Amino acid sequence: MNKIIVKGGKKLRGEIGIDGAKNSVLPILAATILNGGENVIKNCPMFKDVEVILDILRSIGCKVKVEGNVAIIDSSTITSTFVPEDLATEMRSSIILMGPILAREGKVTISYPGGCEIGPRPIDLHLKALRSLGAKINDTNGGYISCETDGLKGCEIYLDYPSVGATENVMIAAVYAEGETVIRNAAKEPEIIDLQNFLKKIGAKVTGAGSSVIRIKGYEKKLTNVEHTIIPDRIIAGTYMVAAAMTGGNVVLKNIIPEHIISIASVLRDVGCQINFKQNDVQIIAGPRLNAVEVIRTLPYPGFPTDMQAQLMAILTLCKGTSIIIETIFESRYKHVDDLLKMGANIRIDGRMAVIKGVEQLYGAQVVSRDLRGGAALILAGLAAKGETIITGLEHVDRGYYKVEEKLSLLGADIIRI
Ligand code: EPZ
Repeated sequence: MNKIIVKGGKKLRGEIGIDGAKNSVLPILAATILNGGENVIKNCPMFKDVEVILDILRSIGCKVKVEGNVAIIDSSTITSTFVPEDLATEMRSSIILMGPILAREGKVTISYPGGCEIGPRPIDLHLKALRSLGAKINDTNGGYISCETDGLKGCEIYLDYPSVGATENVMIAAVYAEGETVIRNAAKEPEIIDLQNFLKKIGAKVTGAGSSVIRIKGYEKKLTNVEHTIIPDRIIAGTYMVAAAMTGGNVVLKNIIPEHIISIASVLRDVGCQINFKQNDVQIIAGPRLNAVEVIRTLPYPGFPTDMQAQLMAILTLCKGTSIIIETIFESRYKHVDDLLKMGANIRIDGRMAVIKGVEQLYGAQVVSRDLRGGAALILAGLAAKGETIITGLEHVDRGYYKVEEKLSLLGADIIRI
């Protein structure tokens, strides 16, 4: 199961349901550690990263059951505060486990991988915020970080950058901090609101998610059984919208939240597609020709999401004219460019700026996925390219897309995984 073969040129038609959001389910599964009861998490996508975090929960003593797309976590007994290295390094965002374990048990040790495919993943904002709450963080030795506290205390925290992960880590840790914690310059992504809704279900007093000021009132630990349904994945929705746009298709996505994908819909309308929202569905009809866009900057929500940058670049390679992308969030998130060039694209990178000159046609080639969204972009390019494209490095794609080849072939793509 190590490569995908796509024969390009098929128009995508039909409808597809959108799974639960990876970037919402990961912090919420981490937050189940706080709640020493039974947590039923519905619409739980079964990506690789989710399987890894469920294994980490098991390794610290949680009882975990999976029934289809429902994960049931009984976190009544925590037997370890050590996150095993092999699991922690497998999931880039394992740092999100630090807040809940520290808050629940008063100590935590986790190994932290250094760089990542999309540039160094520093955690300085996480550590600075946890220190403000009263965590004593021992020196990282040999890639391990351990911290302990004799009781977290609520305080005012200003994040130098609206980091999604740091906002989530602090929200979760502050639930058991004494007094009130105020996070300023907090991330405003929809996944933060979903986390707040989960925390409120377990009895925490959290308000303000979706704005840049989030308030958390610490509360006594208690056990409650909760049920929570994860919001749909806006990045997966955007990915399939681009697939339809690139293949001259006409596709309906079911179970989306329109306001979460407005920035993506707006860019695809500029490119020349027709986008119709209807309650929790969206229809995308590709335009007869694709036009270049002036400049797209990736920005924190509600701006254009960095997680859609590679997928947007894939379609811009076929848009008439010259488009510019500026990746303002991560410092090296252009690993997909070399492989797009191999398929005949015309792209020039200058620091964080990519200049894309539209070409008439992409051509199938052997390409390698080097990170999650870059891999998705190569599959999209293969759908539109003339001839056959072979994509390897699927372990990256599987971290955030569940059976992507099956979903695309249901829409008429000629795509198989062998
Ligand atoms: C989350 O990552 C998402 N992952 C990412 O999605 C997403 O790209 C990112 O938010 C931005 O929206 C999950 O939610 C699991 P950040 P996170 O902290 O929390 C710098 C995908 O493809 N920074 O908002 O790691 C950091 O280097 C993944 O689904 C610090 O400098 O993102 C980056 O340049 C990729 N110090 C910027 O902030 C810190 O302590 C944004 O990072 C933390 C972050």
